[in-house]
Amino acid sequence: MFYELIKPAFFRVDPEQAHDLVMVWMEKTGPCRATRGIAKSIYYLEDSLLTQTLWGLRFVNPVGMAAGFDKNARAIQGLTALGFGFIEIGTVTPRAQPGNPKPRIFRLPADHAVINRMGFPNEGADAVAVRMAVLGKQPVPIGINLGKNKDTALEDAAADYIAALEKLFPYGDYCVVNVSSPNTPGLRLLQGAGYLDTLMAEVQAANRRLATQHGRQPLPCLLKIAPDLAHEDLEAIATLALGPAIDGLIATNTTLSREGLKQSVNEGGGLSGAPLRTRSTEVIRTLYRITGKQVPIIGVGGIDSGQDAYEKIRAGASLVQLYTAFIYEGPAIARRIKAELIELLRRDGIDHISSAIGRDI
Ligand SMILES: Cc1cc2nc3c(=O)[nH]c(=O)nc-3n(C[C@H](O)[C@H](O)[C@H](O)COP(=O)(O)O)c2cc1C
Repeated sequence: MFYELIKPAFFRVDPEQAHDLVMVWMEKTGPCRATRGIAKSIYYLEDSLLTQTLWGLRFVNPVGMAAGFDKNARAIQGLTALGFGFIEIGTVTPRAQPGNPKPRIFRLPADHAVINRMGFPNEGADAVAVRMAVLGKQPVPIGINLGKNKDTALEDAAADYIAALEKLFPYGDYCVVNVSSPNTPGLRLLQGAGYLDTLMAEVQAANRRLATQHGRQPLPCLLKIAPDLAHEDLEAIATLALGPAIDGLIATNTTLSREGLKQSVNEGGGLSGAPLRTRSTEVIRTLYRITGKQVPIIGVGGIDSGQDAYEKIRAGASLVQLYTAFIYEGPAIARRIKAELIELLRRDGIDHISSAIGRDI
């Protein structure tokens, strides 16, 4: 209700400025124990029905904040207090970069959607590592989403992912190789057969080396893919994921498609939110048909209700993430999705979330 009251004023502010305001607020209030306590009393809702262990990590609930919201690890404590079960920071590139010229985020309220062409603006892996070192161990798993710098040639991409991983390895619970942003020229080509297996093999070799250096296990290394891939490409990726190079899949990033929009829009970039929902669920279904439960899938794209999350889980996702719904629905979104999900599982006589994964396949 609180968000419904402030939303009209909020939506009059430029989207990126509004985002920056929220980040400042979260960064200031997140470290305060009392504020976190109040937020937790409002937004927490945990139930053993939703708790899972994947890759040896405990997820108290399956609803995560997707990459892109907290690019520089400034809001981890605030997001945890809002009841997210895991948080993915980034995309972080090895070196700081400014991203594309502004404006670069556009709201499409009639479609419950957003178009962005941010181009990975971030403070770089060194600065993010310092911030995460100060923060210390968090109560929920933290994913580190890695990217390449815009001025790095595609042939040298692996070195960028590895350089960022080297700096952030001690602070993450899982890492993500992001090859699916439409806003870094050529990046999506890395999803192709010619590049992907070599890229993932090189990243995993570095991951193992870092594990030995730090005296811990390698990080689960996930691949985040685009919704615009052809069926055969998805099948090839799913097949690759059955091998040792990929520990999990994140489906999907934003789409270049403008299909089904109510609002006419002439901005380039990736579309997220409700119009992406069906396609991303289709991608999950295609992947799950090949991988089954052997390779956990994180489903993302247009989730703004428990029903949406449930559909992705039934299509094969073990966990879900969202970003755009946070813009439209506000801070109570994770709690609402969890409550609705519990209700749906109970309605269908399912006694644990793991029994719902892939049930429609
Ligand atoms: C403004 C904005 C910035 C984003 N930045 C990133 C990013 O840096 N890295 C990434 O992997 N995904 C990024 N995404 C994609 C989201 O993580 C997610 O995959 C996509 O938005 C679909 O989920 P949604 O419909 O719940 O927003 C971004 C999305 C938005 C809206």
